[in-house]
Parts: sequence; structure tokens; C-alpha cells
Amino acid sequence: MSGSAVPGRRRFLTTGAAVVGAAASGQVLLAGTARAAQSPLPAGVFSLGVASGDPLPDAVVLWTRLAPDPLHGGGMPQRAVAVEWQISEDSRFRRQVRRGYAWARPEYGHSVHADVRGLRPDRHYWYRFRTSGQLSPVGRTRTAPAASAAGSRLRLALASCQNWQHGYFTPYADMRAQDPDLVVFVGDYIYESTSPITSIREHEGTGEPFSLVQYRNRYAQYKTDPDLKAMHAAAPFVVTFDDHEVDNDFAGDLPQDPDKQSPEAFAARLTAAYQAYYEHMPVRATAVPNGPHIRMHRRLDFGRLVRLNMLDTRQFRSDQATSQAGALDPAMTMLGAEQKQWLLDGLHGSQARWNLIASQIMMAETDVKLGDGKAWFYDAWDGYQVERNALLAEFANVSNPVVLSGDRHVTMISDLKLDFADPRSAVVGAEFVGTSISSGGDQNSAAFHRQMDPLKADNPHWKVIDNHRGYHLFDIRQAGIDAQVRIADTVTRPTSASRTLATLRVDSGKPGVRTV
Ligand SMILES: [Fe+2]
Repeated sequence: MSGSAVPGRRRFLTTGAAVVGAAASGQVLLAGTARAAQSPLPAGVFSLGVASGDPLPDAVVLWTRLAPDPLHGGGMPQRAVAVEWQISEDSRFRRQVRRGYAWARPEYGHSVHADVRGLRPDRHYWYRFRTSGQLSPVGRTRTAPAASAAGSRLRLALASCQNWQHGYFTPYADMRAQDPDLVVFVGDYIYESTSPITSIREHEGTGEPFSLVQYRNRYAQYKTDPDLKAMHAAAPFVVTFDDHEVDNDFAGDLPQDPDKQSPEAFAARLTAAYQAYYEHMPVRATAVPNGPHIRMHRRLDFGRLVRLNMLDTRQFRSDQATSQAGALDPAMTMLGAEQKQWLLDGLHGSQARWNLIASQIMMAETDVKLGDGKAWFYDAWDGYQVERNALLAEFANVSNPVVLSGDRHVTMISDLKLDFADPRSAVVGAEFVGTSISSGGDQNSAAFHRQMDPLKADNPHWKVIDNHRGYHLFDIRQAGIDAQVRIADTVTRPTSASRTLATLRVDSGKPGVRTV
């Protein structure tokens, strides 16, 4: 991050002529009025860093949250604070192209979401915030290519599952060095639950969060990880949540343990968890929660190269099956009728060469029963097989569908088949299950392969399985996707070397994935 000096007032006034858009006089007046009435803020309001997300060809969301005392409610006075944002074509802010003001309001944890418009497509921008004489770190972001652009390459990183207790988020240091255009995060940004593995780092607080303040403190703690903070400042994220942002294995409005959490108590918990999620993520105002509901499924286009469909596989799903017959029940839904139709419309109406589907949970079959018969994980798509198989049947008429998922804390790279029950069934797509940033901690690789390799005969669609911590990196071009499984040697120390464990290729027009 570059440590640019605070521009003086005169400099702001003289550069104002070049600045258009949200710096219009009304908002400047707003900030002036607010400033006059405010006493200085405590030092360190930018302790949680900066982030950007959901890039469009002409827009990106810039995020920060003012929190001088991040682990104890934030430490801000109970009043709205005007925060100036600045965005520039260079890291030293000599070519500022936009600036404006946004309110950091106490009812949203003094978070700031500036949806900056009027930018140029497919280029880097640098941004920062200023309030009460304090200047934030500098972040860098990148807009999406123009809608009509063919696109030469999109470098995308897939991440999920960062358990503070299980390790340092060292894979992000390597991810930053790989300089992706975009990070897709498919869930478990925080963990609500305590863990037997607490030897590396302990959660703040005294147990699981239930209230808004408790969730805020948990997010704030996670955001103090230096590698996560630096990665957010280096590239835009497109995020969605899975279960641990709320409660392990929850389904819609049903908690993991309905005997312990009443419907009213769980609705209050969802409301708190979703609000804290919104407050800490670089997402548009479309994601402002409405009580115990939040809209997270959405689409982002990167020219005619990539369409990215972000799914919500938590809020609209049926409660998990408890038997094989239940997993095969046609009434079971993962997406809900409205989201399913939205996804099909987006896939069939796509102009993009590559149609990515970011699903929090694994789509390919995982049969964990050796030999005859099947045993599945009911929380994943295996528990919702009729809907999964109907979706896979649609893939045959979609341009290059590729599923990106997480949840499993292992790498699993698979062909997606029309019917996993039939080994000769057609391949209709590819799936990358992108291991975890830290969840599960350092694992014994030999023991994993002793246990899992014999299952390969039952799961012939698996191409790579592995249990190191890390992420997946994709170079997406018209002709194909080159993928790397990047793994860290350890997450038990704050720094680690990383390496490529496997390289894979998905060729355009040829469903499936192969190792190279
Ligand atoms: Fe996880």
C-alpha cells in the first residue's frame, strides 16, 4: 500500500474542477455541515482496512467500516459521520476521477458502502477514505470489461472457509502475489462456532455470537488478519455466505438445533447475522437485509468472456434430508423456485463463453461408501439430487458451465455428469471445490489419501482430491481455462511458502476438466 500524504484543503479545492459526479455541491455541503457539528473521532477509525467488490464495467463498491475499537462494538460515537471517498487512476492520487461523501451510520455499524459510478471499463483504480483528519489505507480495485468486449483474460481466485481458530490466512499472501483481477468468495468468511482446534488463534468473546454486536466483533476480529486485509485492498471481491456466517448447517429459517433455538430466537439471530454480514462486505445496496432475509444471488458479467452466477444455497433450501430416500425426494429444493428460474434464465440467456456458477456447496457426487451402494453428505447437492440432476440436464445447452464451490475444506475437482448413478453418463461440465483458506488447519496428507483414494473407484468423476489449505487460481481465456491448485505449506505460522499442487485445463466446447 502506498502511504500517500493527506492532500491539503487547497489541493482539494483546486482539483475539484476535474472531479465530477458524487462530489456535487449538495454532498460537499452535507459533509461541511456534518463536520462543523462534530468533535474529532478517536484515532484508528480505519482499523478494519478497505475493500471493494461487485465490479461492473462502469462501477465498483468501495467499502470500509469505522471502528477505532474493533473487538468491542467498534468504539464510535452514536452519531452519523460523513466519510469522504476518493478514487484515482494512479496510486498516488494525482489523477483523481471521482470523489464524494457517504454516511457512516451507527445503525449500520458505521460501515461505508460507496457505489461509485462513471468509471471506465477493465482498468485498475486506487481508492481511499478520509474522515475527521484520518486517511484510510489505499486500496486497488478493477472494473469489469465492457459488455461487448471479447475479453482476452480474466484471472480469478476462488476462496472459502477461513476459520480464525484453525490458522493464519496465509494463502491470501500468495493470492496477492498472483495478482488476480477478482476474488470469488463462496462462504464461511467467519465461523460462529467454537472449535476443538484453538491452539493457533482464539476467537474473541465468550462463545457463539447471537446479537448484532457479537457478530460485528467476530467480523472485526477476522478482518484484523493482515493477509486478508491486504488481499481486500488489492482486488475486488465477489462474496456470498454459507452456513457459518449464521449457524452451522442452517436451512432457511431452521437452525441447526431447533430444540435449542426457538423460531423467534433464530429469526432474531438471522437478522443480526445478515446485518453484520452486509456491514462488513463490499456489496451493493441490493444486499441491505430486510429483517431475517438478505438478497445475495446475483449475476456479474465480464464482457462476453465470463458470466458469474452467485448462488444462495442457504436461504431457500428445504431442510436437509436424513436418509437416502429423502435425498432423492423430488420435493427437495436447494435454490427455491424463484432462484432456480433466475439461474436458468441467466444460463440460457447468456452471451458469455464461460458460465460460472458459484455454489457454496459441492455439486458433484461424493459417494463415501466403498463398493456397492451409496452414502452421501445431505447438506451438499447430493442431498437435493432431483433438483441437482435437473440442473445438470440443462447444462447440456449452456456454453461451458463451470461450478465453483467450497464448504468441504478439501480440493475436489470433478467432471459433472448427467447422471452420477450411471458411470457411462455424459459429462456436462466441470466443478472446482476450492479447499479452504484455513479451516481444518494443517492436515496429514498421507492419512487423507489412505482414507480417500480407495473411494476413487466409487467416484470416477474425481480428477484431483487433496486436503492442503489454499485456494484455486483460474486464467480464463476464450479457448480455455487454465487452473492451478495453490497450496500453502502451513497455516500454523503467520507466513508460509506456497506452491502449485496441480494444474488443470478446461477446454472451451469440451465439457469436463483434465489434469495437465
Ligand atoms: Fe467451512
